Amino acid sequence: MTTLTTQKPGATLALRGVRLGHRGNVVLDGVDLTVEAGEVLTVVGPSGCGKSTLLRTLAGLLPPLGGTVEQDGRPLTGPDADRALVFQDDALLPWRTVRANVELPLAIGRSRRLPRAERRQVAEEWLERVGLGGHAHRLPHQLSGGQRQRVQLARALAARPRAVLMDEPFGALDAQTRAEMQDLLVDVLAGTGATVVFVTHDVDEALFLGDRVALLGTGEVVPVPHPRDRDSSPAGLRQQIINSL
Ligand SMILES: Nc1ncnc2c1ncn2[C@@H]1O[C@H](COP(=O)(O)OP(=O)(O)OP(=O)(O)O)[C@@H](O)[C@H]1O
Ligand SMILES: [Mg+2]
Repeated sequence: MTTLTTQKPGATLALRGVRLGHRGNVVLDGVDLTVEAGEVLTVVGPSGCGKSTLLRTLAGLLPPLGGTVEQDGRPLTGPDADRALVFQDDALLPWRTVRANVELPLAIGRSRRLPRAERRQVAEEWLERVGLGGHAHRLPHQLSGGQRQRVQLARALAARPRAVLMDEPFGALDAQTRAEMQDLLVDVLAGTGATVVFVTHDVDEALFLGDRVALLGTGEVVPVPHPRDRDSSPAGLRQQIINSL
């Protein structure tokens, strides 16, 4: 399993005096935020406050209206395979098998192109890792919603990105599946060193997954005490976050 445990250093992502929005319509202004290498930053805030806009900006998909967005001190110039994206709606190719979907990012990008046999091996190892070892030949529609999110996770991490940007990836799942996915995410991230920005509506999810929680409406960033424990997230901190939303 050497392919899975080879680490790359996580990226440091920084927003400096950033103004975010769409076609001149400003959503957030004066955003200053640094996500340290290897850190998991969760982002919470009311609907429409700009969480997805922030994530798209960090991905390099949406240029800021002002200020700078940097990776390791250099301005972003656009989307980059260094930064993988995971959305709530799975973006799997419906006509490709699960394994082919996971292989896809390994086949594109100059520095990432791997020989076919190696791509296959990496994809199969990642599918094992997310609990889908027996599902490699299925099509996405033959999987449950939770299983499709497992495939998305495998696909995002198989390419060994230096940052993973996740926009409410578990938002559509039932409570039990969601808790399983949260545990799986902690488990699979542990070996990667990747920096993670994880957007969620769920304060308990934010506290469970995050090293720090950014409250987008207020601009605060709250450190989360460790060790992670789903049943004992500190009541005061939880209430403070809920009150500010
Ligand atoms: N492509 C777009 N063009 C114009 N305005 C947009 C576009 N996408 C989002 N907006 C607007 O930008 C604001 C922030 O939207 P965004 O999707 O970032 O919010 P959000 O915090 O992710 O909300 P939710 O929690 O509902 O997902 C909203 O007012 C929204 O209407
Ligand atoms: Mg959103």
